[in-house]
Amino acid sequence: MAVAAANKAGNGKPSPKHNIETVRQAFYDRIAKRDMRPLWRVMDSIVTKEPVSRCRPAVWHFDEVKSLVMESGNLITAEEAKRRVLILENPALRGESRITNTLFAGIQMILPGEVAPAHRHAAAAIRFVLDGEGAYTAVEGEKAFMSPGDFVITANWAPHDHGNTSKKPMLWLDVLDVPAVNFYEASFAEDFDAPTQETKRQDGDSLSFYGSGVLPDGTVITNRTPVINYTYARTRPIVERMMRAGNIDTRHGARVHYANPVTGGSVLPTMGACLSMMPKGFKGEPYRSTDGTIFVCAEGGGSTNVDRTVLEWRPHDVFVVPPWKRYAHSAVKESVLFSISDRPAQEALGLWREGK
Ligand SMILES: [Fe+2]
Repeated sequence: MAVAAANKAGNGKPSPKHNIETVRQAFYDRIAKRDMRPLWRVMDSIVTKEPVSRCRPAVWHFDEVKSLVMESGNLITAEEAKRRVLILENPALRGESRITNTLFAGIQMILPGEVAPAHRHAAAAIRFVLDGEGAYTAVEGEKAFMSPGDFVITANWAPHDHGNTSKKPMLWLDVLDVPAVNFYEASFAEDFDAPTQETKRQDGDSLSFYGSGVLPDGTVITNRTPVINYTYARTRPIVERMMRAGNIDTRHGARVHYANPVTGGSVLPTMGACLSMMPKGFKGEPYRSTDGTIFVCAEGGGSTNVDRTVLEWRPHDVFVVPPWKRYAHSAVKESVLFSISDRPAQEALGLWREGK
């Protein structure tokens, strides 16, 4: 019936174009009832010539974030909340609990005397410490006391709890691969009966055992680092030494990536992180890559130009650059930037690209 109707378009004479469009639409409507769809109508939007990101560049200034996180301390205890975290949501992805398409980011606070109870989950996590001194995170039986700039690893399914035995609140940036895990619909999580886990290792044991150019007999090679805490006290002098030696990348400054010391690979299969130092007056050349990247200013101050958006940053500010958006850093002072992205996952899948 649809074909017969289509043959009599307009003044009654057949219109070939109208005819074929009507016939096609009737076909599309029919196959839709069978949960099918013609690829040729959506090809350009699903196989794009270049990456198309839903994310927007954005910055969260620490003074504002800190006062809001402190306010949340009056609303709920760490134990009640399990994790007292304010999520940093990409403004273009409201309601999706993510800062990029694949990564979750949030600011967590532990007040003096509080405990965030032990649990584990399929999602891997990292912490980058922003403010406070002397709170601990216990991961896989090692209690690591944290200081600003420390980079702490909680691998997939690793038991972890946090506590603050100091007199000051501690705040850190949490980054997890939760959206990626949920994309695969592979999330598991469990709580433990005891709020804190038994710790058999001393603070710094894992760094000493695995990050010192020797390895304990029987070390097993895995796709995640055995080091729990990459301390700022140890990593900062390395990038400073590189900068003084003139080993400065024109885009990134004097930069190291945090490595699994057993394999030389990334710290986690899903996330990789870097620390870079830029001299005062540094003007980075434009750069882009397919991994949307979260940055934290550890020290100094400057700005990052993302396409036509300028993100100003000061100590402990967090900002995000979407995938394949061209960006360039400028440092007003000598500055240190921490960064983290899903680059290892993209590399493992053969997807990662960079460019000017
Ligand atoms: Fe957790």
